[in-house]
Amino acid sequence: MLGVIPVGLFLTQHLVVNHFATGGEESFNNAAHFMEQLPFRYFLEVFIIFLPLLFHAIYGLYIAFTAKNNIGQYGYFRNWMFMLQRVSGVVTLIFVAWHVWETRIAAAFGAAVNFQMMETILSNPFMLWFYLIGIISTTFHFANGLWSFFVSWGITVTPRSQVISTYITIGVFVALSIVGVRAILAFV
Ligand code: HEM
Repeated sequence: MLGVIPVGLFLTQHLVVNHFATGGEESFNNAAHFMEQLPFRYFLEVFIIFLPLLFHAIYGLYIAFTAKNNIGQYGYFRNWMFMLQRVSGVVTLIFVAWHVWETRIAAAFGAAVNFQMMETILSNPFMLWFYLIGIISTTFHFANGLWSFFVSWGITVTPRSQVISTYITIGVFVALSIVGVRAILAFV
């Protein structure tokens, strides 16, 4: 729930804003500047981003390491997805921790957040791969988390609705990955 609503909305918004980078340096800087001067910025950051993300990360690690596999209840595919959900959760956590450190925390210590910042980070080939893997891991984790969210909130109860939901969430995964990867490549 906390993963899907605030964190998922933040992720979608964040990738869409970053996508302005495909329109060039000025386009990205204007978009980033617009986000920075939103009213109640710190309130939004704390309550829509940091606290939900922190809670989701801590609680997520707890369920990832205590949940039981339910082989038999779902098919082979779903067991794979269940495993990949944990793996992508851990990869995403490592990525986001590092990413926030070198962007938002750096900004708090006075670094200028702009196109050049991302260009410098991504000029390192290792970092470029780290970001590409980090983005795809995040969009997978979100889309597959959305599938489970629909089940656990009683929205997709029948096997048929769960199959339809699989196609829809695959669509979410592909669409968000394209937006995220295009944004990254715009800085290279
Ligand atoms: C296209 C790839 C991405 C780019 C270019 C990018 C860029 C940035 C930049 C420049 C900031 C600093 C914002 C500021 O201080 O004003 C930031 C913050 C942040 N990013 Fe990303 N990011 C990307 C992907 C992601 C992904 C996949 C996540 C996963 C959830 C993520 C999570 C965050 C978080 C939590 C913050 C701190 C939020 C804030 O307080 O503004 N980012 N990002």
